[in-house]
Amino acid sequence: MSKTIRLGFIGCGGIANGKHFPGIKGIEGAEMVAFCDLIEERAQKAAKEYGTPDAKVYTDYRELLKDPTIDAVHVLTPNVSHCEISCAAMEAGKHVLCEKPMAASEADAKKMLETRDKTGKMLTIGYQYRHFHVNQVAKKVVDDGWLGDIYYAEATYLRRRGVPTWGVFTDKSKQGGGPLIDIGTHALDLTLFLMNNYDVDYVVGTSFEKLGRLLDPEHQGQVNGRGEQDNWNNKTYDVEDSAMGFIKMKNGATIVLRASWAINMTKEQGANNKATAMLAGTKGGLDTASDVVRLNHVVAGQPSITTVGEPVAPYIPGFSQGPAPKSLEADIWVKALRGEGELFVTAEQAYTVTRILEAIYTSSKTGKPVYF
Ligand SMILES: NC(=O)c1ccc[n+]([C@@H]2O[C@H](COP(=O)([O-])OP(=O)(O)OC[C@H]3O[C@@H](n4cnc5c(N)ncnc54)[C@H](O)[C@@H]3O)[C@@H](O)[C@H]2O)c1
Repeated sequence: MSKTIRLGFIGCGGIANGKHFPGIKGIEGAEMVAFCDLIEERAQKAAKEYGTPDAKVYTDYRELLKDPTIDAVHVLTPNVSHCEISCAAMEAGKHVLCEKPMAASEADAKKMLETRDKTGKMLTIGYQYRHFHVNQVAKKVVDDGWLGDIYYAEATYLRRRGVPTWGVFTDKSKQGGGPLIDIGTHALDLTLFLMNNYDVDYVVGTSFEKLGRLLDPEHQGQVNGRGEQDNWNNKTYDVEDSAMGFIKMKNGATIVLRASWAINMTKEQGANNKATAMLAGTKGGLDTASDVVRLNHVVAGQPSITTVGEPVAPYIPGFSQGPAPKSLEADIWVKALRGEGELFVTAEQAYTVTRILEAIYTSSKTGKPVYF
C-alpha cells in the first residue's frame, strides 16, 4: 500500500471551497494538511472544516512550501499568480494541480512547462469539464470512430448575463482577461480533447469591450456565474465581455470558439452557461449541449439523431449535484500522486489552450492572424 499523500492548498476562495476541498475529502489516501490564503480567516476556516487535526495555516505561500512533508499543492489563486506559485512549488519539490487557465500568458505557461521538466514534478490543470459524464461519453463516441474525420468544431461557453461578481474576475491585472480566459478556456480545452488535435496552424480573433463597461448593470437582468442576482461594477470593469476566435489546425480542421459573460443571445442560440462542444465529421456529428450526447448520423439511409447514454449530472460539489460518490478530478489526481495512475490533463495540452487564448487577444489587437 502506498503512503498517504499530504496536500497543501494555496488560495481558499470560491473554487477551493466549491471543488477542491469537498472533492479531496471523499478520496482515500490523501489528507489536507496545510492551507494558505492572504485572508487568514479563509485559511483558518478551511483548516477547521477539512484539515487534519494538526493542519497548518499560512498567509505566505512561501512558508507553506518550506514544509518538507507536503507532497503536492493545489494552486487556487487568481490567474496572474499561477505561474509564480506553481513554479515555486515545483522548485520546492511539490507536485502541482493548478486551477485553469494554466496561466495568464503564454510566456508564463511555458515557464511552468519548463519548470516541470527541470524539476521532474507532476503538473496538471483543473479542467473538470472533461470529466463530466456527457463529455466522457462524447470522447468514447469519437474514439470509436462514429464521426470519421472531424473537420469542423464549435467550442462554446456563453452567458446572456453572467458576469462573475466575486473575487477579481473583472480585474485584468489579476486575471489577465475576461470570459475568454475564464470560461472560453473550458470550452476550448474540451473541444481539443474530444478532437485529440493540438496541432494549430493559425488563430484569428476579436474580443469585445461592450456591455461590461458601457451598460448600467442594474437594468440588465444579470444572473452572475453562480446563478445569483448580483450586479457587477461597470466602473472598475476592465476586461472584455465577449471574445470569438477562429482556429485553423494544421490538418485543415477549423474550430470556432465563442465566449461571453454578457451578450444579447438566447439560450437556444447557445447562451446556456456551460462549456459545450459541437463536432462535425465525415461520418457523423455530435454535440454535448444537453445532458446526453446527440449523435447525428445516417441510419438505414435516413438522416438520424441518436441520443447516446443516460443523463448523469456532473458531480462538482457546490457547482452541481449528482449521484457520483466523488470528484473524478480529485480521484485521478490522487491516484497519479500515489503512483497508481496517469495524469489526465497534461500540461502540454493546457499550454496549447493558453497559447490559443493569447493568440485571440493578440489578433484582436493587431487585426492580424497569429501563426503558430
Ligand atoms: N475550474 C473551474 O471551473 C473554476 C471556477 C472558478 C474559478 N477557477 C479558477 O480558480 C482560481 C481562483 O478563483 P476563485 O473563484 O476561487 O477566486 P476567489 O477570489 O474566490 O479565491 C481566490 C483566493 O485566493 C487568495 N489569494 C490571492 N492571492 C494569493 C496568494 N498570493 N497567496 C495565497 N492566497 C491568495 C484570495 O485571498 C482568495 O481567497 C482562478 O484562477 C480561476 O480561474 C476555476
